[in-house]
Amino acid sequence: MSGSAGNRQSVLAVLEWMRLAGVTHLTRRAATIGTAGATHPPRAPIPEAAAPPAEIQIGLFGGANATGIAGTTAPGRGRRRGPEASVTPLAGAEAPAADSAAEALRLIREDLGECTRCRLSEKRSRIVFGVGDPDARLIFVGEGPGVDEDRQGEPFVGRAGQLLTRIIESMGFRREDVYIANVVKCRPPDNRTPQADEIATCSPFLFQQVAAIRPRVIVCLGTPAAQTVLGTRGTITHLRGRFHDVAGYRVMPTFHPAYLLRNPAAKKDVWEDMKQVMAFLKSPD
Ligand code: URA
Ligand code: URA
Repeated sequence: MSGSAGNRQSVLAVLEWMRLAGVTHLTRRAATIGTAGATHPPRAPIPEAAAPPAEIQIGLFGGANATGIAGTTAPGRGRRRGPEASVTPLAGAEAPAADSAAEALRLIREDLGECTRCRLSEKRSRIVFGVGDPDARLIFVGEGPGVDEDRQGEPFVGRAGQLLTRIIESMGFRREDVYIANVVKCRPPDNRTPQADEIATCSPFLFQQVAAIRPRVIVCLGTPAAQTVLGTRGTITHLRGRFHDVAGYRVMPTFHPAYLLRNPAAKKDVWEDMKQVMAFLKSPD
């Protein structure tokens, strides 16, 4: 990234970092707030303006987006899943032999085809495979497409997706620097939680995507993603906030952005989790 777009993003990231660190007013002395407890170093000079423009205040990860989710993202994320124990095949997943991660992903997508392996295929409009850098070091895994994703064929493009994009940018990345995928590739009717057999049928494709990309970190968004990747039955509240090691990957479960839209107070928890991810990504391989 270069030029004013890059500078703007850096400034936005710094402003967001300060806001999450509890800074509510900017003054000329704001440069000293690096002691506020956050570890994320500013990448750009701190602007002297008394406050960011309204457009920035509204649009950011921590911004004024606490209204309802209007049915565009999956409800029922707080619901308990059944007692089935998921067993993660992530450890055994293999990507197709290929010269590059991009080619391996292409082969996985080809294998998926116009999938009818489970009932979710009956009501979907489009398969939502995944998007981003095939060589990403960071993957975000969601639950399943919502209505906007089903229409556009791309994960996390609705309201929750826009919040995810702001989280990614607050971490100093662009959306296209990371990879984003879901546990199930087809929208569950009425955005219900995917059922165990649907997850069992579809998650091997996610695991192959992970094996093709070989990221350093997998961020699991919400309970179903965390349970699927970790192969555990715990809920996100118990699983989040620390790394789990699975098959050579560091896995950070955190709250789903749709949950953050309903519970903005939890954004600071997600930010703490993302700071751990950022610190780990900065450490030597
Ligand atoms: N929620 C998800 O879990 N995934 C998406 O792609 C969109 C919303
Ligand atoms: N339940 C979920 O599935 N995800 C969250 O982020 C919070 C509660």
